[in-house]
Amino acid sequence: SHVHYYDFVLREKNFTRLCSTKSMLVVNDSFPGPVIRVQKGDTVYVNVQNQGDYDLTIHWHGVHQPRNPWSDGPEYITQCPIEPGSNFTYEVIFSDEEGTLWWHAHSDWTRSSVHGAIVVMPLNETGFPFPEPDGEEIVVLGSWYKDDVNEVVAEALEDGDDTPRSDCYTINGQPGDFFACSNDSTHRWEVEHGKTYLLRIVNAAMNAELYFAIAEHNLTVVGMDGSYVKPIVTDFIMICPGQTMDILVTADQPLGWYYMAARQYDSVRPDVTDYDTSNVTAILEYKGNYTPPALPIFPSNLPTYEDLSSAVAFSSRILSLASTEHPINVPKNITTRMYITTEMNNIEFDNGTDERSGLASSLNNVSWVNPSTDVLLAYYRNMSGFYTSDFPDYPPSLFDFVAEDLSDDYVTTVQGTKVKVLEYNEEVEIVFQGTNVLDASEDHPMHMHGYSFYVVGKGFGNFDNETDPQVYNLVDPPKMNTVSVPKKGWVAIRFKASNPGVWFWHCHFDRHLSWGMNFVMIVKDGGTPETSMRKPPAYLPPCSDSSTI
Ligand code: C2O
Ligand code: CU
Repeated sequence: SHVHYYDFVLREKNFTRLCSTKSMLVVNDSFPGPVIRVQKGDTVYVNVQNQGDYDLTIHWHGVHQPRNPWSDGPEYITQCPIEPGSNFTYEVIFSDEEGTLWWHAHSDWTRSSVHGAIVVMPLNETGFPFPEPDGEEIVVLGSWYKDDVNEVVAEALEDGDDTPRSDCYTINGQPGDFFACSNDSTHRWEVEHGKTYLLRIVNAAMNAELYFAIAEHNLTVVGMDGSYVKPIVTDFIMICPGQTMDILVTADQPLGWYYMAARQYDSVRPDVTDYDTSNVTAILEYKGNYTPPALPIFPSNLPTYEDLSSAVAFSSRILSLASTEHPINVPKNITTRMYITTEMNNIEFDNGTDERSGLASSLNNVSWVNPSTDVLLAYYRNMSGFYTSDFPDYPPSLFDFVAEDLSDDYVTTVQGTKVKVLEYNEEVEIVFQGTNVLDASEDHPMHMHGYSFYVVGKGFGNFDNETDPQVYNLVDPPKMNTVSVPKKGWVAIRFKASNPGVWFWHCHFDRHLSWGMNFVMIVKDGGTPETSMRKPPAYLPPCSDSSTI
């Protein structure tokens, strides 16, 4: 394995989109930011220099970081933020991941402009489990806000009601032809007829599950979230925020221009309509001699916003490759079972000056609050008062009624910094149950740091503890780091707690993350040096109220 060094300089820069200019924080002057390219098992040192105006951290989404939560990144979970004018070097340790992942800021909504792709190539000896592609194309899907995102969000949180919609989505930073002042800069992908490309897609949008398709071209999905899947041929994909996909595309159509397009898949519909309904496009352009068409062809097979069944049908086709070269290992002797409800709630806030009420999100009716010193340091140093180890357990009997109508007791949530503590190597099953509290049911793309998990079951309505486990897929369940809990439905995941550390769980819709749909898992050390957390780095960004560093 190799060691790589990257410098990430964070600075404000002006960008013009949708006919207006704003300054935003980016890495190395680019949006999206630089690609990190490694081989399986490599280590990367990223020196992050914060030359911006506010605190931030960077997270390496989907990188398991064995025994090394110190460089995982979520602010106040595994570190305190890097202040303006200072820097921090992350040690990003790759292990079993292979395929596309990504990195992003993990402070407030800064990740809307601070993100980029990570490419993990297979080892030369093994290669890809499919014919070597002729080329590669990275597609990062993002959200664009005309105004300063963090100001807009701060205002929204202050009001305690709604978060703002983005003004458009982007493909590699560009809105595409359907927007004013945009068609000169539409992203173009040049292909050669007859060649096969590996398309690496990242959904970095802030609050949207997205449909994506390329006009007239089939997509063969071969990987997801840094693991290989059984190839599926499709004419569209649905990708949750946080997820990544590896897709083979053969340029086998008549020479010409074809739109690649994405639009929101909006599980909230038809109840709520105030979302970004823009169609973002880029152009797949064949090389060669031909008269360019007046207009590229638009993908006729791109599902519409409210099309729930296409999203469900697509997601259910994804299964682990589970081959001899890429075996899977689904835990079968579960020692810890957790039942976790995802809820939208009302809450009484303490905003520092006075109490007020507003909208919140919660897991098992606890809305997460960041501590002032990160959970990891507090855990490592045995400092009390920063979190409590009493994340509530819900009995599955409660699930008799949650999907449709959770009782009024759950309308108002409590705030807390409650973590779940696991013994090393426990085999864990979690059932996430979507609820309809506040009559606000929708998908929740739940993401786990430090691990990938197997998605062994999924369904609509209330989870049934008697019958549903009987039809779990323990043979080739997909391995992911982010899974959507379906609207008014449930999902069951399993993993073995073999990575000691402090690991964040949260909804990857940033509005829900800000409102508290988060919790933390502490996985204890295994008792030997090889099964215990590594030592902290010599320098950690200081926490403002902690003199103990
Ligand atoms: Cu991309 Cu905490 O996540
Ligand atoms: Cu959510």
